[in-house]
Amino acid sequence: MLFVMLSRLVTSAVIAKIHTIDWTVELLKVDTFLAGMRGNWYGLLGKPFKDTFGHVGDGILGGLVGMKKPDNHGVPYSLTEEFVSVYRMHALLPDSLHLRNIDVLPEDNKSPPLIKEIPMNDLVGLPGEKKLSEIGVQETLVSMGHQASRALELQNYPSFLRNLVSQNIDGTERPDHVDLAALEIYRDRERQVARYNQFRRSLLLIPISKWEDLTDDKEIIKALKEVYGNDVELLDVLVGLMAEKKIKGFAISETTFVIFLIMASRRLEADRFYTSNFNEETYTKKGLEWVNTTESLKDVIDRHYPKMTKKWLNASSAFSVWDAPPNKPNPIPIYLRIPN
Ligand code: HEM
Repeated sequence: MLFVMLSRLVTSAVIAKIHTIDWTVELLKVDTFLAGMRGNWYGLLGKPFKDTFGHVGDGILGGLVGMKKPDNHGVPYSLTEEFVSVYRMHALLPDSLHLRNIDVLPEDNKSPPLIKEIPMNDLVGLPGEKKLSEIGVQETLVSMGHQASRALELQNYPSFLRNLVSQNIDGTERPDHVDLAALEIYRDRERQVARYNQFRRSLLLIPISKWEDLTDDKEIIKALKEVYGNDVELLDVLVGLMAEKKIKGFAISETTFVIFLIMASRRLEADRFYTSNFNEETYTKKGLEWVNTTESLKDVIDRHYPKMTKKWLNASSAFSVWDAPPNKPNPIPIYLRIPN
């Protein structure tokens, strides 16, 4: 039992670390953000400094992970409903998986050849689990790795999620299908998450006063007027997040970004397992070493399938498209770069 708990602790820390310094950074491809997220984990003095001198002082300079004690700023920690709302990223999903043949030899800068497209409807629920186990883990990973996600924009919601067969816990199908696009709006409303403008005001961001402040897309503005008339205060938060003009290099909206920054830091600093108990006594020597030496999802996949990653994972991050060229190393330490 103790072994199971320890494995969960170590795995959770690895997931939190990958989420902080690998996945979130891939959504926001600007160096400033990479510096910010690595700063959260390692401190602004950086990994080499932390490896050599250990944790130095509490706070961002030495990193939130390893602080002497947790700090919840006087409010019991939980993932907030605002965080759930901004994480509604179903528009990233495709309507089919492009299954690839991984048995061929890789050609320069080319994805493995396409075998067929499998509708996503066939890949969800218990039948989906069966189908994916027939396909195989490596084939699934390489196929997903070579398929770019879709954009977080309006009128881009995957069709399969608008007619989703819901299942009972035993995998049997329920008669009522789910229109997840509509359900998401309904959920935010029933949880009384603020509408878009109020949501922004609460974050001290400028609200919109007309649809043109949100987007330049004439068709979208027409659709918004059909639904909400001229009352921009009624705009649902999820619709606003998808419609919002994006900052260059960002896959997510500015509004989402602000929540991300707050929650990413808070999740680490409010948890004793990343602060007062981030030590060998709690994690064991091997466990702590495991967390400290895993830097990315690429490391995890590589540990299990080294031949496959050598053959197909060319990119710097497993969250990039896998045949993207690796990032060129920047000779200037990240914390000394001028923000772009
Ligand atoms: C095949 C992939 C996926 C399927 C079938 C799926 C399906 C669902 C369903 C059925 C719900 C519950 C709706 C409800 O009753 O309120 C849900 C909630 C949610 N999903 Fe997904 N989802 C998928 C992938 C994703 C991805 C990739 C993300 C984000 C990157 C995501 C983020 C969320 C969030 C934030 C919620 C709300 C959770 C909550 O209310 O606490 N989902 N999803």
